Amino acid sequence: MIPTLLFSGFFFANAFANPLAGHEQQQPLGNGVSFSTVYGAGGAQRLTGRFLHITDPHPDSHYKHGASTDNNCHRGHGSAGYFGAEGTDCDAPFTLMNATFRWIERNLKGNIDFVLWTGDSARHDRDEKIPRKMEEIIHLNELLSQQFVDAFQEEFGLSIPVVPTIGNNDIMPHNTMKEGPNRWTKALVDVWDKFIPESERHSFVEGGWFTSEVIPGKLSVISLNTMYFYSSNSAVDGCDDKDEPGFEHMEWLRVQLKLLRQRKMKAILIGHVPPARAGSKQGWDETCWQKYTLWLYQYRDVIVGSVYGHMNIDHFMFQDSHDIDIIDLEGDNTGSNDFSVQSMENYLEALRGQWSDMPSPPSGLSIEEYLDEDFTETYGNASWTDISKKRKKKKKFLRKIGGPLAERYSVSLVSPSLVPEYFPTLRVIEYNITGLEDTPTWSDIQEITEISYSNDHDTPSVLEPEDSRTVDIDGKKKKKTPKFKVPEPPPSSALPGPGYSNQPLSWLGYTQYYANLTRINDKVALLHDQNETENDANATGVDDIFGFEVEYDTRNDHIYQMKDLTVRSYFDLASRIANNIPNTLTSPADINEDDYESQKKKKKKKKKKKKKKNKNKTWKTFLDRAFVGYLDINDFEETES
Ligand SMILES: *[C@@H]1O[C@H](CO)[C@@H](O)[C@H](O)[C@H]1NC(C)=O
Ligand SMILES: *[C@@H]1O[C@H](CO)[C@@H](O)[C@H](O)[C@H]1NC(C)=O
Ligand SMILES: *[C@@H]1O[C@H](CO)[C@@H](O)[C@H](O)[C@H]1NC(C)=O
Ligand SMILES: *[C@@H]1O[C@H](CO)[C@@H](O)[C@H](O)[C@H]1NC(C)=O
Ligand SMILES: *[C@@H]1O[C@H](CO)[C@@H](O)[C@H](O)[C@H]1NC(C)=O
Ligand SMILES: *[C@@H]1O[C@H](CO)[C@@H](O)[C@H](O)[C@H]1NC(C)=O
Ligand SMILES: *[C@@H]1O[C@H](CO)[C@@H](O)[C@H](O)[C@H]1NC(C)=O
Repeated sequence: MIPTLLFSGFFFANAFANPLAGHEQQQPLGNGVSFSTVYGAGGAQRLTGRFLHITDPHPDSHYKHGASTDNNCHRGHGSAGYFGAEGTDCDAPFTLMNATFRWIERNLKGNIDFVLWTGDSARHDRDEKIPRKMEEIIHLNELLSQQFVDAFQEEFGLSIPVVPTIGNNDIMPHNTMKEGPNRWTKALVDVWDKFIPESERHSFVEGGWFTSEVIPGKLSVISLNTMYFYSSNSAVDGCDDKDEPGFEHMEWLRVQLKLLRQRKMKAILIGHVPPARAGSKQGWDETCWQKYTLWLYQYRDVIVGSVYGHMNIDHFMFQDSHDIDIIDLEGDNTGSNDFSVQSMENYLEALRGQWSDMPSPPSGLSIEEYLDEDFTETYGNASWTDISKKRKKKKKFLRKIGGPLAERYSVSLVSPSLVPEYFPTLRVIEYNITGLEDTPTWSDIQEITEISYSNDHDTPSVLEPEDSRTVDIDGKKKKKTPKFKVPEPPPSSALPGPGYSNQPLSWLGYTQYYANLTRINDKVALLHDQNETENDANATGVDDIFGFEVEYDTRNDHIYQMKDLTVRSYFDLASRIANNIPNTLTSPADINEDDYESQKKKKKKKKKKKKKKNKNKTWKTFLDRAFVGYLDINDFEETES
């Protein structure tokens, strides 16, 4: 609870900062009325072009500062730190939750447009002495929901939308969820009633999935219930069988994407368990992965991007439309849920292996020529045959990756956790708001009463008839008729979507924040030592010690150097991680070579050496970041083959 005094001070500060806040704007709107004509510059807050992704907080009210990390930090004497036990199996104390939300309120409030909260908002079921109960799981989710409300509350209500999703530890027994409606969807719909739009409650109770129109008329977030795709959920069986909730979920998703395409809107997908599929890790049942990958491919004009949690390591993965083989599926599924560092490292190695199998650009192309979407311009006075030879090679390569924008692929981003499995983290993603500066926001719309964009999947009237067609991936016709409705590809008139080319709503970059708990806990311990009253030292003093700092920023980073977060940018990053292309961006001298061939000869030796040194730099950086800088990556060298 925020003390009344603090709250009112808070409100005044805001009222002064924005005298228009709370200004009466209400006016009934009929269909087709342009919002901007009604709203102009009013409303609470304009779009800022940023949103927060927070995942896997795992709050634990049994956590004891100074307890043993061998007992889940619940008992005994040990090193459990004041703000959490980094690098252990312990869950997160409320000191960390409170400090995190205080930081969010101070640093992000007013600077972000929405929050994506991808699940696992209860402690793990790891302590046999204190088994979890449903009430506890629900209560922990309520506490966190309240923290979001407190952080983003304004006089008129919640200032920005928060979009939650169900994690495998938000249910009991963990990982296991039967088809809906069930006790979890019925309980969570009330816990999250401020976050699930009224018109979506029915959908959520039915299946734990819903959409939230975070920018009215422009952008929806689709919250997936990945429990029905999750290979470890023994209560369900994939997405192939019409009676399975996974099948129904995919049908619902297809209809949502279709509706959004019709409304010329875009979508962000969020979920808890990511569609990991590398090495021995298979996060989703293969039948679900197949449909998901097909849906993403067919709706690549609609989907901006997707974010997940669960795995606690910072990484990303591709869905390759060439892997779609939806007819000849083997039901066999051997998913692994080993989360040890060793197994994570093997998984990341396997991912890298996949990336090195991706088409690599033909040799003889400089990085500049490779990155340039239409590279002929950069050739200056090179000989014509040279140009056309290179152009041919490049064309062939581009055809393999689905054109210059790599439309063969889609990407899913996984943010590391708030619970200090390594260090606690938050991620702030920036997106393009060109032309959206004055668009009405979510909170503008909350003030209007009876506006309802029904996204109800029971409304077939808006749907065009859609029947089974043959799957057409890159011109390869598959003969068999699938047992499900195949989504329509982008209309031929459609321009590449925001996931592929930088445009309004495209993701431009993200800032990865982390809190160095080792340092922070040490400082707190020092403060406590200096103080006789060991137990509850000066609370403000302690709280001021905590803060998040920037780990890296995808754009200003000299290793990643991503100009945006489009699929092509990720393709290029993955290629550099896998050494498919030289990491020459870090050595600008190589970029400006006029005569690539002769320079290549001249520098061959030198370059080879440099290349070797640079070669694993991107990979090492990627690994280091996967574990939030907590682990010493050099310890891994031994296991590299
Ligand atoms: C966290 O904040 C809540 C609500 O403000 C408060 O009731 C609780 O005592 C705080 N917990 C800790 C450990 O600071
Ligand atoms: C282009 O012409 C300039 C000046 O004539 C020369 O210095 C340069 O090496 C040429 N570049 C190529 C790629 O032939
Ligand atoms: C946003 O997209 C527009 C194209 O619609 C582009 O001109 C602009 O540069 C982009 N903004 C940023 C910051 O990249
Ligand atoms: C965290 O802090 C510790 C102690 O100050 C330091 O040794 C370590 O390098 C820091 N790690 C990161 C990733 O900042
Ligand atoms: C220790 O606690 C007392 C009050 O309990 C406070 O006045 C003092 O500032 C504290 N010292 C430190 C180093 O925090
Ligand atoms: C708590 O500590 C801060 C700084 O460490 C100090 O400014 C403040 O006076 C202290 N408050 C109390 C009640 O001791
Ligand atoms: C780079 O990685 C490869 C494969 O992981 C390894 O064989 C090689 O020794 C590494 N090179 C350097 C310079 O670390």
